[in-house]
Amino acid sequence: MGTASFPENFVWGVSTSAFQIEGATDQDGRGPSIWDRFADEAYGDPACDHYVRYREDVRLMQDLGIAAYRFSVSWSRVLPEGHGRVNNPGLDFYDRLVDELLRAGIAPYATLYHWDLPQALQDRGGWTSRDTALHFAEYAGLVYDRIGDRVDTWFTFNEPWVAAFLGHASGVHAPGRQSAADAFVSAHHMLLAHGLGLEALRAQGAARAGVVLNLSPVLTPAQLGDMSLDLPEEDAEAVARIDALHNRQFLEPVLRGHYPADLLPLVEKIAGLGHIHDGDLDLVGRPIDLLGVNYYTPIVVRAQPSTPADPAFPGSEGVLFCSVPTAVTAMGWPIMPSGLSLVLRRLSEEYPETELMITENGADFVDVVAGDGIHDLDRMSFVEEHLRALRTSLDEGARVRGYLLWSLLDCVEWADGYRRKFGIVHVDFTTQRRLLKDSALWYRDVIKRNGLGA
Ligand code: NOJ
Repeated sequence: MGTASFPENFVWGVSTSAFQIEGATDQDGRGPSIWDRFADEAYGDPACDHYVRYREDVRLMQDLGIAAYRFSVSWSRVLPEGHGRVNNPGLDFYDRLVDELLRAGIAPYATLYHWDLPQALQDRGGWTSRDTALHFAEYAGLVYDRIGDRVDTWFTFNEPWVAAFLGHASGVHAPGRQSAADAFVSAHHMLLAHGLGLEALRAQGAARAGVVLNLSPVLTPAQLGDMSLDLPEEDAEAVARIDALHNRQFLEPVLRGHYPADLLPLVEKIAGLGHIHDGDLDLVGRPIDLLGVNYYTPIVVRAQPSTPADPAFPGSEGVLFCSVPTAVTAMGWPIMPSGLSLVLRRLSEEYPETELMITENGADFVDVVAGDGIHDLDRMSFVEEHLRALRTSLDEGARVRGYLLWSLLDCVEWADGYRRKFGIVHVDFTTQRRLLKDSALWYRDVIKRNGLGA
């Protein structure tokens, strides 16, 4: 394969999230979050002990040549009850982290909601309650007030689809609800919170703000071989329905200020429309500066009458989620680098004005710690192939400003716990020793040469 260089000023970085790396869940006044309750109180502790070892982690990033670091703020550290009483030691942590990053020449990108809702708000309905969206705006304003003078880029939410539907429909994520109606209502309140949060950030002068969505191309098994295929009507309908539930439910409100017309009847049937108030979508659709794209894998479906709805996709009756004969990661996710190009092509065609950033991409593979290191060729080639796909998209005109790899560290993979390995840096959870995997050394070279070698 040939060399591929990236545009000047292309931003190379890594992403993490608070609950997955910080640990210290009961220190300095942090309140419990839904993940502490859902798993068990000890689950997020020690994680990577990043709350204590953040300086070492910033140093690691500096050594790798990382230009931007996307982290998330823990709402329960800042507002242990979710609103009202401010816990200053919690804000102090992010203050120290941001200063440390700036000293290392790394641009801080902050995500405000990466799934760890304060338990106190959950006790009052969580995302099914409209008040949670109002509290989010209060929280966003507070965080901005403390670190906004030094934070480059803001993201309100990370992957609201996952938080709404895995948290409230399939229940495999916190808070573990299994109610299709709750999932749609929660999704709407998250979108509303995004709009209100954006307004709070803007009111204080945030220069660059947006949201992070997990986007996947939806295709049939036949299209895996040939995207130009004409689909039978029932397959086309199945694809459109899953695309509406997974992608367009969030894209259209945020970027166009309305729900997809083909989604609303389904929402109405399952949840009613009473939770969508007049004026909400104007707020949700206020202009953003940057759309964060998390891409891991495609969704492959076809029509099959009398298939029950998938628990994570209420309304998906008659749609079969297919396994495909391609290589998969240890999570079992099909590897399809060209899926990233499909997502980017779609965004460029439908939303040409929107600037994009790959805010997550990476892979879980089983690592073998050999005497002389971790030779994770599989992770390296996963990232390399996705970067080649990204390079193709840039050639096609996609406005992608940077690539943030998931993740810097092996960390807590939500319901799957500590056994999943997405890091380019290995963490020994007993000693907390960090060890650069070969993928980290390789990524350092990519960054140094601003692209891929031969
Ligand atoms: C997306 C999520 O944002 C992140 O928290 C998670 O660890 C990765 N996907 C891998 O599943």
